[in-house]
Amino acid sequence: MGRVIAVANQKGGVGKTTTAINLAASFAAAEVPTLLIDCDPQSNSSSGLGYPKDPQRFSTYHLLMGDAQLDQITLTTALDQLWIVPSSKELTGANIELVTLDRREFRLRDAVDRIRNRYQFIVLDCPPALDLLTLNALVAADSVIVPMQAEYFALEGVSELLDTVERVKQTFNPGLAVEGVVLTMYDDRTNLAQQVTDELRNYFGDRLFTTSIPRNVRLAEAPSHGKPALLYDVRSRGAEAYIKLAKEIMDRVMLRASA
Ligand SMILES: Nc1ncnc2c1ncn2[C@@H]1O[C@H](COP(=O)(O)OP(=O)(O)O)[C@@H](O)[C@H]1O
Ligand SMILES: [Mg+2]
Repeated sequence: MGRVIAVANQKGGVGKTTTAINLAASFAAAEVPTLLIDCDPQSNSSSGLGYPKDPQRFSTYHLLMGDAQLDQITLTTALDQLWIVPSSKELTGANIELVTLDRREFRLRDAVDRIRNRYQFIVLDCPPALDLLTLNALVAADSVIVPMQAEYFALEGVSELLDTVERVKQTFNPGLAVEGVVLTMYDDRTNLAQQVTDELRNYFGDRLFTTSIPRNVRLAEAPSHGKPALLYDVRSRGAEAYIKLAKEIMDRVMLRASA
């Protein structure tokens, strides 16, 4: 049974898409069947995996509206164990159009439930908002990964997200868990990063992943080539960090399964 992981943070530019693409690619490179669903109208994870904007293409929008099934709109990638459901600009409208539809919070979950036994991981890249799209992702998910930067006040932004996770848990999805918090664009040479990390470690305990993701230009370059970092420059620190993070997550999931 596939584990559904939402990559969420209502703040933009914190590394959600970079994490979603490179984590999904790292699972797939370990021969683990993985699906990435792009839930953000900006479609950055679609273009980052080689599917630039195309108004003709079916997308997550059609899925949520009930106009397409997941297997009709799932595309292959350069990695043979990685598939993607692309997004499109129309998804912006879904926030409004969904309001009048029945099971509006459960549209993604209903779709994902039909195919979840085909993959070991299903990664959901969320938009930078606590909107109906992110809500659909949180309702569909087994767990949430929160990418965040080590900066002052980072906790304040994240506590709003954690409140939302708690509400979703109570109202729609009792099984929802926080998979973990990952530090992105991390520069361990600064005192600030160290101090903030200590504070976050106190607050999150072992929910803060041991692996943090360094600031690495290869991670920023790879999407313009339509590739995850491990196909662009597998020896880069960025690619290596995401491979390590994927391993940390797979180890935890296996540990829980055997407990
Ligand atoms: N570890 C990193 N090192 C360098 N650049 C990064 C890193 N993570 C993300 N970026 C860059 O920062 C910008 C925002 O990242 P992105 O993953 O798109 O964030 P979000 O999806 O949260 O908006 C992008 O240009 C991305 O390439
Ligand atoms: Mg993004």
